[in-house]
Amino acid sequence: MLVTTREIFEKCYGRYAVAAVNVEFMEQVHAVFAAAQRAQAPVIVQTTPVARDYAHAKMLASMVRTASEIYPGVVYAFHVDHGYESHIDDALESGAYTSVMIDASHDEFEKNASRTRAVVEKAHAKGVSVEAELGTLGGVEDDITVDEKKALYTDPEQVEEFVKLTACDSLAVAVGTSHGAYKFSGGQGLQFDILEGIQKRLPGFPLVLHGGSAVNTTEIERINEAGGKLSASAKGVDAEEIKRSIKYGVCKVNIATDARLMWTRVTREFFASTPEDFTPIKPGKTYMEEYASFLTEKFEMLGSAGKA
Ligand code: G3H
Ligand code: 13P
Ligand code: NA
Ligand code: ZN
Repeated sequence: MLVTTREIFEKCYGRYAVAAVNVEFMEQVHAVFAAAQRAQAPVIVQTTPVARDYAHAKMLASMVRTASEIYPGVVYAFHVDHGYESHIDDALESGAYTSVMIDASHDEFEKNASRTRAVVEKAHAKGVSVEAELGTLGGVEDDITVDEKKALYTDPEQVEEFVKLTACDSLAVAVGTSHGAYKFSGGQGLQFDILEGIQKRLPGFPLVLHGGSAVNTTEIERINEAGGKLSASAKGVDAEEIKRSIKYGVCKVNIATDARLMWTRVTREFFASTPEDFTPIKPGKTYMEEYASFLTEKFEMLGSAGKA
């Protein structure tokens, strides 16, 4: 059943979080729906502009819709991840999406708020939920001062006004995570003081954690053993920290990198161990099965299993 993220968040706030899984090709779509059906977990399926340019918007939307027929009973939202106005307009026009993110977080507060507000008006007119972002994710580097770092995290003093001005349905916050396989280069984890400050000003309001991948060390090691060259400094988010963040209002945990690492590991190992082979469907099948298992465990960890 296709639902909005708003409906999903109303049920999960403070109790469990829902995985928001990026999809860019068919095997991932199968895995997400298979895992959600098996675990009876609500899930958010999301596509970025990059995925759209790769696969085509119609291909992504029809794969997701078809998967919901192949795996009946799955409760899911279909969400535009990191959208700009043109992507969001197309998504609203298509009628396929129930949720969009407007990523205007690199603009100043006022401009971010006004761009977000304009998207909210258009999206809400069609019953589509809107995620906005305040703060700069992934810009937190080792070599900047504490004051500069603070400026990049979401400022708890700004969140209440931002939500009031924009009427967005959820807020992506910068609380220490970043995108990709090399998180926490400065050694810092999730900033619970900031998260607590945000929740104090927005009690009951759904927060979104981007950069939610675990980046399992064994995946990195196996990729490198099979010929890859990923840095040993690869690092992801600790499961205990994610679980703790749920109490502070984190309702949506975005995952893209873990899917990519697993694809890299599975295909590298397959072709390294059977160099005479040239069959995409063999590693493809392994990937679908292993990624579905990975996601099933993720739903258990987030507490969303059994909640659909
Ligand atoms: O934020 C989402 C992904 O980590 C980046 O995805 O390469 O499809 O834009 P993309
Ligand atoms: P990861 O890079 O940690 O998977 O984060 C993905 C994300 O935030 C997508 O919006
Ligand atoms: Na998003
Ligand atoms: Zn993101």
